[in-house]
Amino acid sequence: MPKKNFPLSKVNQLLEHGPVLMLSTSFKEETNVMALSWHMMIGFTPPILACVVKKQRHSFNLLKKSKECVLSIPTVELAKKVVEVGNTSGSKVNKFEEFPLLEEPASKVKAPLLTECYANLECKVIDMKMVEKYNMFILEVVKVWIRPTKKAPRTIHHCGNGVFVVDGDVIKLTSKKK
Ligand SMILES: Cc1cc2nc3c(=O)[nH]c(=O)nc-3n(C[C@H](O)[C@H](O)[C@H](O)COP(=O)(O)O)c2cc1C
Repeated sequence: MPKKNFPLSKVNQLLEHGPVLMLSTSFKEETNVMALSWHMMIGFTPPILACVVKKQRHSFNLLKKSKECVLSIPTVELAKKVVEVGNTSGSKVNKFEEFPLLEEPASKVKAPLLTECYANLECKVIDMKMVEKYNMFILEVVKVWIRPTKKAPRTIHHCGNGVFVVDGDVIKLTSKKK
C-alpha cells in the first residue's frame, strides 16, 4: 500500500480528541468560559482528568487562582456557540451575555453549570506540577450532573481547523470488568 509524508504540525488532525468541552471558571467577581478539546482521563476512582489550558487564555489565570472549574459536555446543537466561545477571549467580553449561554449554580464549586449542556462535571484542581511546563492541570471530578431529557446525545470532536466529527453509531461489545 503506498504511503506519503504527513506534516508533524497536523498530528492533531489524526488523533481525534475526546468530546469538545466547555470549561467555565469563576474567581472573585469574574466568570468565564472557553472551549477545550485537550483533555484526557488519567484516573478512574475517583475520576481524575488532565487538561491543557494555555497560558495565553484568560481562563488560565482564573483556573490557576480559583483552583476549580466546571467541564460541560455540549452536544451538536450547541456547536456554533462552542466555536464562538472558543474564538473569543473573556478578557474583554462577557461570553455568557454575548452568545448567550444559560448558566446555573454548581453545588461544590463557584464556576457555573451550563444549562444547555448534556453533562456538567464539577472539578477541583488537585495538582499543578505540570502547569508551568505544559500548561497542564490535573483535576478531580467531585460532582456530575446529567440531563436525563437529552436522549442519545451526539457530542462533537475537534479535528483542527474548524472541522468536527459528530458522534454517530453506538456499538456494544463484551468488556472485562475493570
Ligand atoms: C474547538 C476548540 C477547542 C479548543 N481547545 C482548547 C484547549 O484544549 N486548550 C486551550 O488552551 N485552548 C483551546 N481552545 C482555544 C480557547 O477556547 C480560546 O482561545 C478561547 O478564546 C479562550 O478563552 P479565554 O481567553 O476567555 O479563556 C479551543 C478552541 C476551540 C474552538
